[in-house]
Amino acid sequence: MEFTRVLPAPSQLLHFALSAFNSSFALLKSAAPGRYHMLPNSSFCIDNETGFIPRMPPARLPSMFQFWERSLSEAATALSLGEDSSDEAEAKRHSSERWRQRIREGPVICTSTIEFDVGRLQRAHFVLAWLVHYYVHSTPPTVDSTPMVVPKSLAVPLVAVSRCLGIAPVLTYADTVLWNVTTADPELPLAHDNMRFPHLFSGTDDEHAFYVASATAELRGAEILRIIEDCNTLPDVSNLATISKISRSLTRVTSIIEELSDIMQSVRAGCDPHVFHWAIRPWYRGSDASGPDSAGWIYEGVENNKDLDLSGPSAGQSTLMHALDVWLDIDHKLSQKRAPPPSDSNRQADRGFMQRMRRYMPGVHQDYLRHLAQSPRPLRELARQTPALREPYNSAVMALKKLRDGHLKIACLYIITMSRSSRCPATAMMQKAQETLKATRNGPVRGTGGTEVSTLLKAGRDATRRAVLE
Ligand code: HEM
Repeated sequence: MEFTRVLPAPSQLLHFALSAFNSSFALLKSAAPGRYHMLPNSSFCIDNETGFIPRMPPARLPSMFQFWERSLSEAATALSLGEDSSDEAEAKRHSSERWRQRIREGPVICTSTIEFDVGRLQRAHFVLAWLVHYYVHSTPPTVDSTPMVVPKSLAVPLVAVSRCLGIAPVLTYADTVLWNVTTADPELPLAHDNMRFPHLFSGTDDEHAFYVASATAELRGAEILRIIEDCNTLPDVSNLATISKISRSLTRVTSIIEELSDIMQSVRAGCDPHVFHWAIRPWYRGSDASGPDSAGWIYEGVENNKDLDLSGPSAGQSTLMHALDVWLDIDHKLSQKRAPPPSDSNRQADRGFMQRMRRYMPGVHQDYLRHLAQSPRPLRELARQTPALREPYNSAVMALKKLRDGHLKIACLYIITMSRSSRCPATAMMQKAQETLKATRNGPVRGTGGTEVSTLLKAGRDATRRAVLE
């Protein structure tokens, strides 16, 4: 029996939100024929202070979903990474197997009661996606290339809630960062020094530091979203005062992007590259992490498995970075003629990566990006036609290019260098894990979705540079 058939019609909530969105759109359009009005950020679940992070973290689910919540609470102590052959990890093999057996025998809980409640849908996605990655990666690797079967007790409801939210049915950046962060002191606002991440795969401070860097960037980026909104709602751009305001906004965005670069680099202080590569990153691997020819995962009880987006989380799914790209008109797809022409390596890179990563964002944030892209007043074109805006526009683009330069170095250090290192000085556990991993993984160093990391990141950096107006 295909369980998805008995579940409620998908995406009802999203359609509800979209129809409200479309009707306000229609009203605004009809109010001033021929003019396209930008909608406020609040229409897209964007908070003025916390940006894409919800003001309140999604709360625990009601008792009928206790099986999921309990399994998640037990996971951290019962499980260890399946490919880790250290004594510590081996000691948990029995409790790991018992935990997985309970998941295999667990009920397929119907999600119809929560399908109009965004907070509960987010929490359900969060819990189920963490459970899927716990299930898959606590399983010791096998020598044969049989696909990993994700039990229907997780797969069926995860696909159902994902359809309602318009997000991929797998662990995403929203699950590791946006919906995982909470205040350490609930009396104070969410801030860099007031953050807690209740769920960590490795339980390490390094993993915590990794999430803190991303969430801090999101918080800092909230101001960029307010600036974009302000610029897009300026009544007209034909007078000096408005041009001067846009110029000041671009200068402000440039300095925030520079701060984002520093925030990104701050990951080095708290997150050890060995721990990241051998103890944290393996938990994130998605169905296609070993490349297109790997056996991948099968979602039991779900139709059309091959159509599911199952690549796993990446900060490339941060809507903030995509919003900057859209606003500054960075051409990742190489669809426009710009100078200098793309290198051979740029052309070989996965040009669809950024577009694909959008499917791993909550649907309402994808809508925001689409709405932004339809702005009747594209910024790059305005800067091209307005000499006074060219320099501030170029400075913002160059700041983003520098951010991507710095990020490339981080990715090299944490992923490429680590995957080539022959000795892991961190702990015995990781050393053993490393040996097992090296034996099982060959070929290029791959990122989310099996893409080749350095070519991809360089292509993104070069596409950014190409937006500069000569
Ligand atoms: C240990 C630290 C980090 C490592 C190893 C790392 C690694 C990577 C890798 C391999 C990719 C390529 C796509 C993929 O495979 O998912 C990527 C993409 C990306 N990462 Fe990171 N990252 C790190 C930290 C961060 C932080 C802290 C941020 C944001 C504050 C960030 C933002 C991005 C963005 C926006 C992309 C999409 C590509 C782009 O826009 O250039 N990363 N990262």
